Amino acid sequence: MADKKMIRVGVVGVGRGSGFARGAVEPLGMKLVALCDTWEERLNALGKELNVSTYTDYDKFLEHDMDAVVLANYFHQHAPFAIKALKAGKHVMSETSACFTLAEGVALIEAVEKSGKIYFFAENYPYMAFNHEMRRLYQKGEMGKFLYGEGEYVHPMIASSGNSIAPGMNHWRNWHPATYYCTHSLGPVMFITDTMPVKVNGFVVPYDYDDKNLRMRVRVADVACSIIVRMDNGAITKAIHGGLRGHGNWVRIHCNKGLMENLRVGDYNMLRVRKEPFDKKAGEPVEKIYKPEFPAYARDAGRHGHGGGDFFTNYFFAQAIKTGQQPYMDVYRGVAMSIVGILAYKSALNDSNTFEVPDLRKKSERAKYAKDDWNPDPARRKKGYPLPSILGEIKPSKEAIASARKIWAAKGFREKEQAKYGKE
Ligand SMILES: NC(=O)c1ccc[n+]([C@@H]2O[C@H](COP(=O)([O-])OP(=O)(O)OC[C@H]3O[C@@H](n4cnc5c(N)ncnc54)[C@H](O)[C@@H]3O)[C@@H](O)[C@H]2O)c1
Repeated sequence: MADKKMIRVGVVGVGRGSGFARGAVEPLGMKLVALCDTWEERLNALGKELNVSTYTDYDKFLEHDMDAVVLANYFHQHAPFAIKALKAGKHVMSETSACFTLAEGVALIEAVEKSGKIYFFAENYPYMAFNHEMRRLYQKGEMGKFLYGEGEYVHPMIASSGNSIAPGMNHWRNWHPATYYCTHSLGPVMFITDTMPVKVNGFVVPYDYDDKNLRMRVRVADVACSIIVRMDNGAITKAIHGGLRGHGNWVRIHCNKGLMENLRVGDYNMLRVRKEPFDKKAGEPVEKIYKPEFPAYARDAGRHGHGGGDFFTNYFFAQAIKTGQQPYMDVYRGVAMSIVGILAYKSALNDSNTFEVPDLRKKSERAKYAKDDWNPDPARRKKGYPLPSILGEIKPSKEAIASARKIWAAKGFREKEQAKYGKE
């Protein structure tokens, strides 16, 4: 493809963002032209390696001649960055989470609508091969009506790694509440079944003072959560995620004609499809266990991270820009799955009572939330705003702080200089 027809892309955040920057995006018609990060050493090193312009200032970066921006900056700051980019006339692909408050969700949706630009929510877990296959079977009508689903993203980490990927005491990974990182567990269920969340009940597994590994981290939030989500077709979903022991990610979809789930034992990329003897067609097996292929681009997808999910987010972003059609993972789905995490925390702090998930596709539902800035960010704390743990204030151990600071210094992270970027 001639250079001028390429979609020129700039990436913000050279951690996770370096995957996009280094990835094979050119075959998809995208070309990296600029990078932005406040961590100058890392930024300059990647800029030199890839021979592209570098910026430490986001506003200056947005002035670069380019068509689209990939946001891999801090988890809790995507919405304001996305809104600025849309206003500057750029298409946006945003990492998780789409928004950190209900008000940001409303503002982001309105900014996308006003801009006419593409917004792609880069939730990549739905695009793993077994999730693609479950969607295919479900959409074909093979499984009947969706009744009950489970999505699990369980990610325990040794303390040294946990501290390493969260440089700075105020880094979002050190304080985001247990319910907030919910899109990897809920996203696949929404994608397979085309359902939207309507109500949540959140349950939090509290901070565990007896866990020696956890006590060596500087994280001051809870261990994990379980969110019960009522979907708009009446089905129930259980989404769990966090640092429980037992690493893995699993999806399970019960329908009124059968069950589909990826395997818990052995290769988790294998899919199990079960139909009861009284439901199955003659000659059809009760249980089928197989390794599904990607629906397309198997060779390319296989070379990318997160079970191929990272290929498909790039692919669908480029497709949306080329066709001018908003993608499946649009701003409405991105905001809906992100606010489930916020509302589940509200619920967990209210004895796990039910909270409604507003349908922000409807303009009439937006006014009620347009100023709802409730959030657990220590840098934005106001009276009535929550602490990151349901137990109240958690103090990291002195040993954890000392160990984390050693790790950060060895990485070249300058804590004092960087501290201001964790804030609004
Ligand atoms: N979808 C996935 O599988 C997946 C995997 C990893 C991370 N993520 C997401 O990617 C995002 C980035 O995560 P990460 O792992 O790279 O860690 P991170 O959040 O520490 O990295 C953010 C990067 O953005 C930079 N940054 C922060 N504020 C900035 C500003 N104002 N201007 C320019 N740059 C700024 C930081 O210096 C850092 O390099 C997070 O939102 C995370 O949730 C998604």
